[in-house]
Amino acid sequence: MADTGGNRKGAPREILPGVKVYAKPAEVARGAARLFVDCAWQSIAKHGHFMVALSGGSTPQMMFQVLASAEFRGQVDWAKVHVFWGDERAVPPTDPQSNYGMARRELLIRVPIPEGNVHRMEAEKPNMGRAAHEYEEVLRKHLELDDRGFPCFHLIFLGMGPDGHTASLFPGARVTRQTSRWVSTPMVVKLNARRMTLTLPVLDAALRVVFLVVGPEKADILRAVLLEKADPPYPTQLVQPRGNGQKIFLVDEAAAAKLEPSDSRKGVPQGKPAATMRGKPGKS
Ligand code: 6PG
Repeated sequence: MADTGGNRKGAPREILPGVKVYAKPAEVARGAARLFVDCAWQSIAKHGHFMVALSGGSTPQMMFQVLASAEFRGQVDWAKVHVFWGDERAVPPTDPQSNYGMARRELLIRVPIPEGNVHRMEAEKPNMGRAAHEYEEVLRKHLELDDRGFPCFHLIFLGMGPDGHTASLFPGARVTRQTSRWVSTPMVVKLNARRMTLTLPVLDAALRVVFLVVGPEKADILRAVLLEKADPPYPTQLVQPRGNGQKIFLVDEAAAAKLEPSDSRKGVPQGKPAATMRGKPGKS
């Protein structure tokens, strides 16, 4: 990829609206931590608290480490931060596969966040459907609702899989047509496992949704998600914050390797024409 000169040390270049390319994963992590701090300040100043949902998978690990570092942890009023998750695996919090477990190890035990402000998905519970309802009650207790009655996060971090899935919303899955529930427990056939996940209406109600995408293995899907009109759309394409909501990608050069400067004039509008993307109105 030709260097477009906008790549001052650590500064990203914007290859498409809302798509920021950093040189290395470590700089993506710093950029994401910076964004966390800025959103926390703005939300606490405006609302008195900061409601943020963390993503699962391996990519956020470096961001957690940066946020927990001496340089960053003092910049956040953790007493006013409430942490939630976008999705969770059906494993106990101590399991190496637990999204909560990873965030706890890398961030939450290293910053002065009150235990009562950490709201994990109890996806290991035998009755996962009831656990999903319980999580909806937790969201109802802490989050303001948008004009359509969906809980409104100030910031949601998401990852993206090589198949274009995000949170636990996988391509073609029925849960991607969910229009009323806030939390769902889809059976992910390809993983032969049930997951707990926030649904698209909740992701779309967020003020800001930030995708962290790094590594050469994500180059094909990132190009497809940003430049192709897939049918059905990739779940990452279906995420479209409403109104003034922002959708941002923080990626590294390796993930952006299949995007050319000339693509900056292309780009698939990262959204959905009214309603059709999720089937006809009323079909859920
Ligand atoms: C999960 C995630 C999932 C993840 C992507 C990317 O629980 O697995 O929430 O959506 O973000 O699979 O995972 P990596 O960051 O490990 O590539």
